[in-house]
Amino acid sequence: MKGKSLISITDYSKEDYLEILDSAADFEKNPDQPLLQGKVVATLFYEPSTRTRLSFETAVQRLGGKVIGFSDVNSSSVTKGETLKDTIKIISNYVDLIIMRHPMEGSARYASEISDISIINAGDGANQHPSQTLLDLYSIRKTQGTLENLNVFMIGDLKYGRTVHSLLMAMSHFKPTFYFFSPEALRMPSGYKHFLKEKGIKFVEGSDFVPVIQEADIIYMTRVQKERFSDPIEYEKNKSVYVLNNAMLEHTRPNVRVLHPLPRVNEINLDVDDNPKAYYYDQARNGLYVRQAIICKVLGIK
Ligand code: CP
Repeated sequence: MKGKSLISITDYSKEDYLEILDSAADFEKNPDQPLLQGKVVATLFYEPSTRTRLSFETAVQRLGGKVIGFSDVNSSSVTKGETLKDTIKIISNYVDLIIMRHPMEGSARYASEISDISIINAGDGANQHPSQTLLDLYSIRKTQGTLENLNVFMIGDLKYGRTVHSLLMAMSHFKPTFYFFSPEALRMPSGYKHFLKEKGIKFVEGSDFVPVIQEADIIYMTRVQKERFSDPIEYEKNKSVYVLNNAMLEHTRPNVRVLHPLPRVNEINLDVDDNPKAYYYDQARNGLYVRQAIICKVLGIK
């Protein structure tokens, strides 16, 4: 890695997170600032995206920069067999920053090792989604007034969910207690649980969150990710195990907020959308400001 990149949430310190969150709060007050004039950013999306790509592209444009890239590999020379290495080497000649989503775990790290310019990982397989994590931290701090000592429920696909993996590692700086609820086949991988044990972070694991929902400060719902299953029958078995509805929120804490990285399929009932405890649409909006702050951080723009 030659420049500053954001590949894994662990590349950055707690102080870096807080600096980015404070900067994002400034961008929320004033998102239109000419800080990227003369800069060109590439968004290379080898996997589908709505929020991540479009909020990054909006972030660049609101800061006065320009965007090139692809959102469909079928329109690129990847279909002719071009390697990731060659694509990164070529695009690095054109732009100041690459924002990349790719299905292969470790692809963003690899890109950062062969590129002379900064790389932002917009999701690499089931591994990491660090910009999502920073917007999650921003949303948690904004709604709770703190990041410290919170009870964080993570519900759904904890095996393949890169957002929960990144969030768990980031929150470990703030003394949380985690509650993991998933189908047996989609449990939080043991490596992450080992990480928490080493750090002395409390967690409980179970199958039914409803009996303890009153303990939650944050309810982080996740989608069961069809695209990560090799066996469609396994997906069908697991896809609708958890569906949060309004009645379940009735006896929750007043401060509780429901987060979801989105897209949702059916894991949050539509009747939750108008509940003041639902925060996922605001969370997605926060992504714009946080991504403005991340871009400025990696490019060294104050
Ligand atoms: N949260 C998230 O990554 O959404 P997209 O897949 O739409 O980018």
